[in-house]
Amino acid sequence: MPTPIILDVDTGYDDAVAILMAAGHPALHLLGVTTVAGNASLAVTTDNTLRTLDAAGYTDIPVIAGAHRPLLRELGGSTDAQNQHFGFPRQREATPGYAVDWLVQTIMASAGDIVLVPLAPLTNIALALHKEPRIARKVKEVVLMGGAVHGGNMSPVAEFNIWIDPEAARSVWQAGWPITMVGLDVTGRALIPPEDAARVKALPTARAAITGELLDFCVQREVLGWGKPGAQIFDACAVAAVVDPGMLTTKHCFVDVETTGTLTAGMTVCDLDGQTGHTPNCHVGLDIDYARFFRVMLEGLGG
Ligand code: RIB
Ligand code: CA
Repeated sequence: MPTPIILDVDTGYDDAVAILMAAGHPALHLLGVTTVAGNASLAVTTDNTLRTLDAAGYTDIPVIAGAHRPLLRELGGSTDAQNQHFGFPRQREATPGYAVDWLVQTIMASAGDIVLVPLAPLTNIALALHKEPRIARKVKEVVLMGGAVHGGNMSPVAEFNIWIDPEAARSVWQAGWPITMVGLDVTGRALIPPEDAARVKALPTARAAITGELLDFCVQREVLGWGKPGAQIFDACAVAAVVDPGMLTTKHCFVDVETTGTLTAGMTVCDLDGQTGHTPNCHVGLDIDYARFFRVMLEGLGG
């Protein structure tokens, strides 16, 4: 029986790859995709999401727009490389309504089997929790791309999805639901080399062709431009971990989010050694088996 999932996205290139993997993987049933401001404005992330799904033939998967800005802070920080406008053909408008309402309605009407997969700033998720706290008991698990045990990509200590809306992220970690954190410690170990990007492009599906275009952009920038061994497709790691959780090495520990630090706002403070005495609230990703990750990617894209 496929696992029902919901993706919450701020579609840029890696969200798009994650969406296409989720839509096509036989072990998953993508119930819908909610959009939020992050990599780009809400209008752009929603448009990119629609174009990604429609170009791959998934015009039946609902796309519902959500928050246009973080809870308290201004929307900042989207980098040029992320703030892309996709050119894929679009066939429809977003589903009418507000993502926060759709999340609450869908989760509360479910059998309690939905895996929620946030791949963006957690604004929509925090607002849904505020509207209906009981979703924390109805969601089977949250598997999110965000945070880091060590380091950051928007500051020395903060990862983008958390850095954009630390207040939202803190409420997600305080909600009491099962969370798996797929952070930079994981995504930085799942770099896709050019030869594997070529294997994706060789698959005989529309979603693989679209993914191939996106991977070409990433490989061009990160491998040829920055001299990296492969392209970092952050959000794809979270979707893959839903299919095959065993690909992750995790530690169950207490995580909290810094919201007041001048230098440290958006930091996910992971208490790996139990120093705080607080009850663990998160399975923190520490490593990933690349071969298992890439196998799930190929499966999802038609391999
Ligand atoms: O730090 C990486 C995350 O920020 C990814 O989700 C990427 O899409 C951006 O949202
Ligand atoms: Ca994202």
